[in-house]
Amino acid sequence: MSDNTTNQGLEGITVAETRISDIDGESGELVIGGYPIEELATNATYEESIFLLLNGRLPTDRELANLRAKLAARREISDEVRAVLRRAAEEEKPAMDALRMGAATATIGTEDGTPQDDAQRVIAAFPTIVAAYWRYRQGKKPVAPREDLGHAANYLYMLSGEEPTDAAIRGLETYLNTVVDHGVNASTFTARVVVSTESDLVSAATAAVGTLKGPLHGGAPGPVLDMFKEVHESGEPEGYVRETLERGERLMGFGHRVYRVRDPRAAVLSTAAERFYEASSNTEFFETVQDLEECAVDILAEHKPDRRLETNVEFYTAALLHGLGIPKDVFTATFGVSRVGGWMAHCLEQLENNRVIRPRAHYVGATGRTWTPVGER
Ligand code: ACO
Repeated sequence: MSDNTTNQGLEGITVAETRISDIDGESGELVIGGYPIEELATNATYEESIFLLLNGRLPTDRELANLRAKLAARREISDEVRAVLRRAAEEEKPAMDALRMGAATATIGTEDGTPQDDAQRVIAAFPTIVAAYWRYRQGKKPVAPREDLGHAANYLYMLSGEEPTDAAIRGLETYLNTVVDHGVNASTFTARVVVSTESDLVSAATAAVGTLKGPLHGGAPGPVLDMFKEVHESGEPEGYVRETLERGERLMGFGHRVYRVRDPRAAVLSTAAERFYEASSNTEFFETVQDLEECAVDILAEHKPDRRLETNVEFYTAALLHGLGIPKDVFTATFGVSRVGGWMAHCLEQLENNRVIRPRAHYVGATGRTWTPVGER
């Protein structure tokens, strides 16, 4: 017999002990490996964040150089993966489908067989997969990764074929650090479930990509950018927000399962985006974004007085990635390029003290039926 107490969406259920990140949804604080997100995101390179997640502390100079070299040496993807990506692009499949297909096709080498090495291989391959797919979508050849560029710089380089500016690299480092981990969110939980069966890290990453794809998780920034463009053109944020809610639709980029205040990642990304838009003398678009936030928060407060709906990470993700010149079609895949670091760290943590994750369901279906042969139904 099943237990009849259910918890829709597993809200409030603690499923793991973790040293990776901690969220305080009431006060709006996010701590990664002990560092407030505001500090880590704006100072670290993505490689430093990855080291922190995988090892529980920041690297020394030498350890960082070693990790950078290892990731750089593992960026190449095989001809087989490239063929899958070319086909996905020719069939105009969305980038997240291509990332899922590319990730699933990537095989883990067993150079020295440690889980850390496997994790690094998966993390290193993600930007190359997304960028190669995007180049094929443009009818162009993929740009080979460069060993002398860092993880963030290399991703921008492989997408556009041009060496990025320091400001763009810093903007992307900030983004990648900001979204690298966030407790046991849906995709991270997926990854932990997969490895809890003693399956492998590629399978965990592939399943997590599928989870991240949905608009209630990582799929929101594309629609958020559409919203920015529409409002920028009309100059009518209030009309847009009211009409969206009147149609019974959700306003993309607002609300969160855990935060009851503004998502702290929104503040980090908003500052980074503002700096970038100011430097590129494109402040008008960013002003639209800020006006929209202000107006939407007030209207959402009237619309849902019992549930505080504030800006989540996806709102300023769209603003920052658009400013950096990253195409909207790969916004969610770029989220994956970062979050794969968190997934891998959670997988390794799960394996340290593993027990298969296996919750229960409360059965509400039919009972007492007797079998009827097919011809008699
Ligand atoms: N716009 C309008 N109403 C909303 C919004 C929104 N953005 N978010 C929640 N609500 C309303 C719901 O309709 C619901 O109302 P009801 O009780 O009358 O049905 C109430 O607030 C509570 O919503 P839930 O769905 O219970 O909230 P939950 O914690 O399950 O969902 C989520 C959180 C998925 C982020 C939700 O706020 C949402 O759909 N937001 C829009 C999509 C979005 O921005 N996604 C990115 C998420 S961030 C991330 O994962 C990285």
